[in-house]
Amino acid sequence: MKSAFVTGADRGVGLALVNGLLVKGYQVFAGQYAEEVPELEALKSEYAEQLQVLRLDIASDESVARAFEAVAARIEALDLLINNGAILGDIGATVLDALDYAEMLNVFNVNTLGSLRMSQTFMPLLLKSDSKFLVNISSEAGSISNCYRESWYAYCMSKAALNMQSRLTHNHIKPLGGRVLVVHPGWVQTFMQGKLDAAAALTPEQSAAGILMLVEARLGRIATEAECEYVDYADSPLNW
Ligand SMILES: NC(=O)c1ccc[n+]([C@@H]2O[C@H](COP(=O)([O-])OP(=O)(O)OC[C@H]3O[C@@H](n4cnc5c(N)ncnc54)[C@H](OP(=O)(O)O)[C@@H]3O)[C@@H](O)[C@H]2O)c1
Repeated sequence: MKSAFVTGADRGVGLALVNGLLVKGYQVFAGQYAEEVPELEALKSEYAEQLQVLRLDIASDESVARAFEAVAARIEALDLLINNGAILGDIGATVLDALDYAEMLNVFNVNTLGSLRMSQTFMPLLLKSDSKFLVNISSEAGSISNCYRESWYAYCMSKAALNMQSRLTHNHIKPLGGRVLVVHPGWVQTFMQGKLDAAAALTPEQSAAGILMLVEARLGRIATEAECEYVDYADSPLNW
């Protein structure tokens, strides 16, 4: 049975990824951020053996270290880590407005360093697996060449920096047989903006299904690409 860890599994794309991986027969570790998540409890009662739900704050060294201990006590190798958890921060303020630097640091700590904290901490388990597969859920908002926005400072900068840390990690683990895939999940109907974005093009399930197809298309294939890939949920490449 292959194993996978998904961060930010409380709702949205993360929850749909957990569900999709369970249906595909993976042993799944789901990082739960909020205190109570009835959807994860319901999945746990359906998939008692296959699913482990762990409290996880990717902004905290201690929380990530605790999650690692819990996973390492159950498995010897982790096949797939999906760094999905993220926050948006303020999206309205421009360079002519007051900017909240403390909030920006928090967004950076979650979106950029949170993923790196997870990847670095779980690397010993990942490198013991056959697949050594890391997925960083980024965004089109992290593309510098496609940038059209005039605000969203924290989010766009944090995702651009996530893209850079993904390439650094990929460059190091590729000779060891590993890879990092950077994915824009599409415009998805989630609560990221504090309320349901009903106008978005995709349901979380559609986005997650696309992401898992990207993974399956690459699993078991040696990472021959010289560079880290940055693609959307439908496998279309994005400009860095
Ligand atoms: N929705 C889109 O259109 C879109 C577009 C491009 C990229 N993305 C990316 O897709 C990913 C999933 O986002 P989503 O749309 O599904 O939004 P979402 O529903 O808000 O999901 C984000 C998840 O991250 C969790 N989280 C927040 N802070 C955390 C922390 N410190 N530690 C661990 N988990 C934390 C949230 O938990 P709580 O819900 O309990 O706070 C939630 O489960 C994100 O990386 C996002 O940047 C989304």
